[in-house]
Amino acid sequence: MAIWLPEEFVERVRSESDIVSVVSTYVQLKRRGNRYWGCCPFHQEDTPSFSVKPDDGFFYCFGCHAGGNIFKFISLIENVSYYDAIVLQAERLNIPLPEREKSPQELAREKKVSELREVHEMAVNFFHNCLVMTNYGVAGLEYFHRRGIDDETIKEFKLGFAPDAWDKLSSAFAKRNISNSLLLESGLAVKRQQGNGEYDRFRNRVMIPIMDERGRVCGFGGRIIGEGQPKYLNSPETVLFNKRRLLFGLDKAHRYISQAGFSVVVEGYMDVISVVAAGIRNVVASLGTAFTVEQCKKLLRYAPAIYFCYDSDNAGQEAIARAVTIAAETNAEVKVVQLPDGKDPDEFIQKHGAEEFKKVIAKAVPVVEFQLKHIISHSDINGLEGRLRTLTEMLPVLGGIKNTAERSAYVSKVAQLLSVSENDILAELTKKGHAVVNMQKTAKDVRKAVRKVENATNRSGRVIIRMIWEEPAVIDHFVSMVPIESLPNELHRQILNELADKYTKGETVKDIINLPQLGEEAMAELSRALVEDLGEEDNSILYEACVRQLRRHYLAGQYEVHSMAADNLYRQGDEKYHDELALSQKIKHEMDELQGVNE
Ligand code: GTP
Ligand code: MN
Repeated sequence: MAIWLPEEFVERVRSESDIVSVVSTYVQLKRRGNRYWGCCPFHQEDTPSFSVKPDDGFFYCFGCHAGGNIFKFISLIENVSYYDAIVLQAERLNIPLPEREKSPQELAREKKVSELREVHEMAVNFFHNCLVMTNYGVAGLEYFHRRGIDDETIKEFKLGFAPDAWDKLSSAFAKRNISNSLLLESGLAVKRQQGNGEYDRFRNRVMIPIMDERGRVCGFGGRIIGEGQPKYLNSPETVLFNKRRLLFGLDKAHRYISQAGFSVVVEGYMDVISVVAAGIRNVVASLGTAFTVEQCKKLLRYAPAIYFCYDSDNAGQEAIARAVTIAAETNAEVKVVQLPDGKDPDEFIQKHGAEEFKKVIAKAVPVVEFQLKHIISHSDINGLEGRLRTLTEMLPVLGGIKNTAERSAYVSKVAQLLSVSENDILAELTKKGHAVVNMQKTAKDVRKAVRKVENATNRSGRVIIRMIWEEPAVIDHFVSMVPIESLPNELHRQILNELADKYTKGETVKDIINLPQLGEEAMAELSRALVEDLGEEDNSILYEACVRQLRRHYLAGQYEVHSMAADNLYRQGDEKYHDELALSQKIKHEMDELQGVNE
């Protein structure tokens, strides 16, 4: 965000907003004590774990951990930036936006963008009306119906038809005072090679508008009716139309992606339309080009998992292999949906219906399984040589599996399949530098224990944040016991540093809820701290227990430092090791005492 709104303005919008009534327009809330509860709009659930605290102006979901102030809520539910959420809310409240000087370039660009948006908006309506209201559109309507696309879907996607003529759109738009240059720039018209003037780019094609994630038209894909070349004609790249970033259908899918916890990526426009028409709504397509990291990151904003469901032909499978490599650059949880028959999702649904397609999606396989199968599918594993070559191709896939237990399971599968010994595969992996830890000893138990301690310290951190929020003076005592920098949770360090900063400056600590620099995750964690149930315990007892927990963690770190220093000094023959040793003993002693209290 290059520009930021003045603080007084943001504060005014916030103070005039009522978080409960804003949230209530999207979620049914019930009051319980000083909080409201409802079913979270950001993930699928039947029992309410989404809560709003009106006095502090926060929401938090215990299920999916979404949380923050009113602007965060609006930005998530309306799918806009934090900045735009503030502007949107100001507009709803009729609070005038602050004036700001803009550079001539900025003004020119804004003008261009808004002109292009307008022309595209006009074009969507033009094509749509041609399809549903004029004789020109009959062939198009027949085409869609033949492909099983009903009128409701046509309306939802604003599908259209470009008449079979050279200048229907150009002349209609000229009459409405759209300049030739704007028409050319939008890509809706093309300059004549000879002579003056221009002609319509899209002719005798069914038209599929391509919207950005907020539902604004950015370009078109036009499909020929029946056979012919090119099958699809797309808008050229413009300021609005960037194929690397756009995902077809995302405007309609994003809320369903959040709810389902995963997105389904298909190859074609018609696949998205068909799948959505069949009632499966968390689906998008990349625009006829390879799946990009930008598109991947965009999808991850809504859900951590991405399922690829491409055409079942060779080209489709190769495209998946490339897409999963792209997705591997992010932390996406990738699965692959394999169509048992039918060329693409559209054909499959036309043949077998929605329920079967849902079953196929539910059978999506983890990416490793897909990659291994994909390698097998083009390998000859009959001879020894072929098997070894196949194994060599599989090693990077196996070595890339981070989870030890999972890796050993795949190693044994591959060993069986290729009739080689597991030990040989492990030896190869080690040779290739893939860190292979002792397969027998799963790290599961260790991880479990670590997580338990982590959970306890994290909760203590949140309790402390909550208490300082309610009673800022508590911070003096807390930092005397536990230096903020020693807290294991980075978000807690961030939040407490901001709280401490406000407190020392004598400012209202609660203002940190509006700090943009706090960041999304810290904001959610803060919200969590503020709405989390503290239990029945007396507050001062709870506080002491949490301080003890965090201090013990701090002391453990200190003990490590000083006992190591003592060790080093001793080995260097430095007498000062006595001091370090005494210090570490003292720390150890206090740790033992704290331990005793806790047990
Ligand atoms: P239908 O045959 O209508 O079902 O098309 P499809 O959606 O199954 O498309 P297909 O699998 O053939 O291609 C996938 C995507 O690639 C399409 O949705 C288009 O975005 C893109 N595409 C396909 N053919 C062309 C073409 O001729 N030109 C361009 N620019 N893009 C194409
Ligand atoms: Mn198709």
